[in-house]
Amino acid sequence: MSLIKKKICLLGDIGVGKTSMIRRFVENIFDDSYLSTIGVKVSQKKVMLSNSREMLLLIWDVEGAGNTGNININYMTGASAAIVVADLTRLQTIEVCGDIINSFQKINPAAPIILTGNKQDLVKENHPGHILFKETAKKLKTPFYYTSAKKDHNIENCFQHISKKMIAGL
Ligand code: GTP
Repeated sequence: MSLIKKKICLLGDIGVGKTSMIRRFVENIFDDSYLSTIGVKVSQKKVMLSNSREMLLLIWDVEGAGNTGNININYMTGASAAIVVADLTRLQTIEVCGDIINSFQKINPAAPIILTGNKQDLVKENHPGHILFKETAKKLKTPFYYTSAKKDHNIENCFQHISKKMIAGL
């Protein structure tokens, strides 16, 4: 049986933790130093599906969108899903998520999307970022997770969730 391959994009503002989430998921490591992604970097990881088949995720780490939410459409073309990442400590990275989701949906209207509020280890539940993130996810009607690449919180769960959604659409 041939291996199912699916492209998934990690999208979000600059420095929200896209690379860190991928490194945690693929290699189970975390690094405090910051090296901005220029262009795109593609990683691969096999995930097990419930029917004991495997799927190969081609994970596109796309350079940060900046506050206009602009992302090169070439990076999003052909994607089966997106994880849109915000940094809970910076409100503007949450505010830009709607525009990023709109851009992605124009190119991939049927692809599932989830939102993640990353750097959860740095905020308490009453932090404005924590509150705004939840409100934003509800307004955008998007499934969401609070994550920490540093503390390895919910990273596996959000990739599993999106993998299942992609398979459901096959
Ligand atoms: P660009 O490629 O520039 O858009 O950045 P990015 O979104 O890939 O962010 P990156 O993973 O490079 O992380 C930016 C900074 O945030 C780095 O210093 C990371 O160590 C830090 N960081 C990422 N995730 C977490 C987290 O969950 N908690 C904490 N405390 N720091 C994090």
